[in-house]
Amino acid sequence: AQQVPDILSEEFAGNPYPAYRLMRESAPLIWHEATNSYLISRYEDVERAFKDKASAFTTENYHWQIEPVHGKTILQLSGREHAVRRALVAPAFRGSDLEEKFLPVIERNSRRLIDAFRHTGSVDLVDGFATRFPVDVIAEMLGLDRADHARFHGWYTTVIAFLGNLSGDPEVTAAGERTRIEFAEYMIPIIQARRDSLGDDLLSTLCAAEVDGVRMSDEDIKAFCSLLLAAGGETTDKAIASIFANLLLHPDQLAAVREDRSLIDRAFAETLRYTPPVHMIMRQTAEEVTLSGGTIPAGATVTCLIGAANRDGDRFAEPDTFNIFREDLTTTTAFSAAADHLAFALGRHFCVGALLAKAEVRVGVGQLLDAMPGLRLADGFDPVEQGVFTRGPRSLPVEFTPVAG
Ligand code: HEM
Repeated sequence: AQQVPDILSEEFAGNPYPAYRLMRESAPLIWHEATNSYLISRYEDVERAFKDKASAFTTENYHWQIEPVHGKTILQLSGREHAVRRALVAPAFRGSDLEEKFLPVIERNSRRLIDAFRHTGSVDLVDGFATRFPVDVIAEMLGLDRADHARFHGWYTTVIAFLGNLSGDPEVTAAGERTRIEFAEYMIPIIQARRDSLGDDLLSTLCAAEVDGVRMSDEDIKAFCSLLLAAGGETTDKAIASIFANLLLHPDQLAAVREDRSLIDRAFAETLRYTPPVHMIMRQTAEEVTLSGGTIPAGATVTCLIGAANRDGDRFAEPDTFNIFREDLTTTTAFSAAADHLAFALGRHFCVGALLAKAEVRVGVGQLLDAMPGLRLADGFDPVEQGVFTRGPRSLPVEFTPVAG
């Protein structure tokens, strides 16, 4: 049998899709020594791990992964504790709140970034837009001082480096752990002050939230805000860059989206399937579990390969083709039980910010298309994505015809 490349190898990082295919077809359950985990790659198996109603899969093992940098967040909770926390935070990310309060924030932040380069006729969409936009939006939604946004960005960069630090570089680890302390020193006084004078922002909503007599402590809210840097920042950042990379490499589909902006939702959904920002997430088995590829013992770590499951030919027709018009994909992100691409996961931990991400993509991509007529790839475009757990284009230099306004 053909050897499956190591998921931590250079070869895999350059292009994981051939290895994903090999795993789905001939090694759908495989032990991986370096991550001390079982890899699963078929759609039906990853879907089962996410939707799992019997609590056979937990997020217990996030403790060692994300606790050093974020503290204890909603992601590490399970059972009733998770359900209560979810009920406390989820209302702030529902459609009605988004539209009433946060749509203007999204529009304003997108416009500010675009205004900085629209007259020049060229930009790197990764550095000039994608890495900044979602983090700016979160900072303003939380009601943080504009003067502090640069620090917030600094923490974002350090946290992302910490989470992607596969080689275990001790400096990156130390910087991530320092961020946890600095972030707490910054956020806790702000949270305490906000409790005394609630406003209309997300932080006030989190301070005031109460379910069954339970409220979040200052530490809980701080950890949630910290998680938003990675969960809401890096993901949407990579999604926006990947939408443009995919459309620019398929000019007929770019033209269709330019013509009919309602297709942005489809371009988003297909990008999340074809090139998901999060390629792998972990679960832990609470009991022995049998999947299509074999049996996993209790207490094992399982790496769910979203990037592989999303290209499973048993679930999606022509899975290696980027096609925003495909019929086997829904564009709704409001309903966690929907069997769909797995980029937002499914079930209990289904992405709480999915509607926010969708709103950011609609506004950001729409405004960018308006500001960049004649959009084309510039010299130096390298379609190679970077990252293993999360992936997105390294850079995306483009040119366009500048317009006044
Ligand atoms: C959970 C992906 C945008 C906040 C998740 C999970 C995935 C995901 C895969 C499940 C993690 C797991 O089960 O282990 C994405 C993608 C996004 C995106 C691909 C953009 C395209 C956002 C945004 C926010 C957000 C904009 C908020 C600002 C969260 C939170 C959770 C989560 C708080 C944890 C939910 C829970 O544990 O119950 N996301 N996300 N995400 N996401 Fe997102």
